[in-house]
Amino acid sequence: MQRRIKQIQESLHRRGLVNTSKLIFATLYDYLFDFRHGTDTCQPVELDELTINSANTTHGSPYESSKAHDLKKLFRHFHFPKDSVLVDLGSGKGKVLLATWEFKFKKVIGIEFSEELTKIAKRNIEIFEKKKGKRPVEVICADALKYNFNGDENVFFMFNPFGAPVIEGFIARLQESIEKSPRKVWFIYRNPTQRNVFDKNPKFKLVKKITSMGTEYLIYIYGI
Ligand SMILES: C[S@@+](CC[C@H](N)C(=O)[O-])C[C@H]1O[C@@H](n2cnc3c(N)ncnc32)[C@H](O)[C@@H]1O
Repeated sequence: MQRRIKQIQESLHRRGLVNTSKLIFATLYDYLFDFRHGTDTCQPVELDELTINSANTTHGSPYESSKAHDLKKLFRHFHFPKDSVLVDLGSGKGKVLLATWEFKFKKVIGIEFSEELTKIAKRNIEIFEKKKGKRPVEVICADALKYNFNGDENVFFMFNPFGAPVIEGFIARLQESIEKSPRKVWFIYRNPTQRNVFDKNPKFKLVKKITSMGTEYLIYIYGI
């Protein structure tokens, strides 16, 4: 509760009253999302409360959920090619995997380095499968830098999961994958505190900037 109050105070300072009110609405919408579906996505978790086997913990951000309302709006308006494979880097409790259930991606993959959060995400996916039918959605418990590319991943979502060294490492590995399996790639970056990594890389082009309830989303294309 104290964390929530602190977040509201910070938001008032950063976003102003109108956007903070909208954000409170979106947060309530998220609690309703969990209540309606019987899932567990809303409650933030600090990394030091979790079991993590990674050398990159110090670069990681704590768990906080994206807003289902924003995600649905974003994926409804921004059309990715048919047969796209979406990867949520630092997928936490799986909100992105659940909120995009209806968008018929060829595959949706979450990568999360905390064992506990992965377990919760898997449980949330099972709940959705029972209610809405199976979808090709999976969550992998691993450091994002250890992810083995299949060669078809083309849409990456990041809600500020980690710092610049990990983003740079991930992009280097992605580039190797693109060399082997050439393809166009999109990055959706929510709350882009490390946008400099993308802006300074000439391979990336900023194609869209969206602000929803005072939260910024940047969409970059990696061209081939
Ligand atoms: C701000 S949360 C975002 C959760 C989810 N993507 C969403 O939008 O609802 C960031 C998540 O990234 C995870 N994370 C941080 N560093 C990571 C890494 N190197 N590899 C995998 N997951 C990581 C954290 O455990 C946390 O769950």
